[in-house]
Amino acid sequence: MSLTKDQVNKIRKEILIPDNYIFLDNGASTPKLASAVKAMEEFYSKSYANIHRGVYRLSEEATELYENSRKNIGEFIGCQPEEVIFTKNTTESLNLLADSLVRMVIAKKGKVYVLLSLSEHHSNIVPWMIAKERYKNVEIDFVGLDNDLRLDASDFRKKVSDADIVSLTGASNVTGFIIGHSFFEYAKSLGKITICDGAQLVPHHSFSLKHIDFLAFSGHKMLGPTGIGVLYGRKQMLEKMPCFLGGGEMVSEVSEREYKALEPPHKFEAGTMPFVEAYGLSKAVEFLSSVGLSNIEEYEHNLLEYALKRLGDIKSLTLFASCLDGKNAIVSFVHKKLHPHDISALLDRRKIATRAGTHCAIPMHKALGAPGTVRASFYLYNTFEEVDALADALRKIERKY
Ligand SMILES: Cc1ncc(COP(=O)(O)O)c(C=O)c1O
Repeated sequence: MSLTKDQVNKIRKEILIPDNYIFLDNGASTPKLASAVKAMEEFYSKSYANIHRGVYRLSEEATELYENSRKNIGEFIGCQPEEVIFTKNTTESLNLLADSLVRMVIAKKGKVYVLLSLSEHHSNIVPWMIAKERYKNVEIDFVGLDNDLRLDASDFRKKVSDADIVSLTGASNVTGFIIGHSFFEYAKSLGKITICDGAQLVPHHSFSLKHIDFLAFSGHKMLGPTGIGVLYGRKQMLEKMPCFLGGGEMVSEVSEREYKALEPPHKFEAGTMPFVEAYGLSKAVEFLSSVGLSNIEEYEHNLLEYALKRLGDIKSLTLFASCLDGKNAIVSFVHKKLHPHDISALLDRRKIATRAGTHCAIPMHKALGAPGTVRASFYLYNTFEEVDALADALRKIERKY
């Protein structure tokens, strides 16, 4: 069931939308949920102390809030608490995987073949390249795109049989296309390690972890605070993987010669963690659950349909991936004459925030044949009136230039 106008207006009252902006850059980061910010303030003022180390009440309370947040977030994505690792963001989650998995596979086979796609965010490209610089015998290849800018299924089937690790974006931050479970299912049926970059998927869609070994996402893209990310990992795999960052809190013993790592998830959480932010994220997740991911999905689908119709009528624009099915509410476009930065700056004068550039996805923009795009990315609190305001502003720009 889609959200009603009244429900959306109620949701808007709970979100801290900066300076009454028409905020259409949710793909980069969303505004914050007021109750999550308040909960964090209360944590700081009433229960703050470092976690997992004190034997005094405040530390025990803080530890409980942190570990309950892990449990909440595990329930939200459908896994056990010990399969939830907190990180800084999606980027850190993917760096952890690139380093640890590459070392694990090389230790077993002497080499590793990683399959990515052209629609990846740089966060799911560069960490693998760094692993290639750091360790020997790392090969990286990319699945191409079809004429509709979706993942090319035949290219995928050709390349996947040689891969050890398949790491793909769950939803593109440029086109909004959702990859679909069949790619992960097929890779898993061949025994591959499967990773989903869920930065643009988890905030917007219900999904299943059935064929996914690892899922990475960021709190700040789902009404939560910055500085907190999540890495889901299948327990049996986390147990086998070597550690990534080392330091306090991830070890049970240290001598002058060696260390003994704790069990997952703690072996991947070195140093003082962003535990207050984890609590803030768990509050955002509770809110999203109460609204219902399938309701969010349907509402965003309707918003996208309307945005494609309104922007599709503007002759000076070329929209990319301008179809409706299997997509996030993201519209990327170029103007016939003006640079994306100019369009975004002109929209900003009307207090409409969009993103302009390559959105950390240069290979994807090469595939589009565009040096950059303007991106409007919507979330559950955006309204049809805001779509109208965007379209009207773009029409005015069309008339002027
Ligand atoms: C698909 C995708 N992956 C990864 C990231 C990186 O997220 P973060 O900057 O939170 O690490 C983004 C951010 O825009 C993204 O859209």
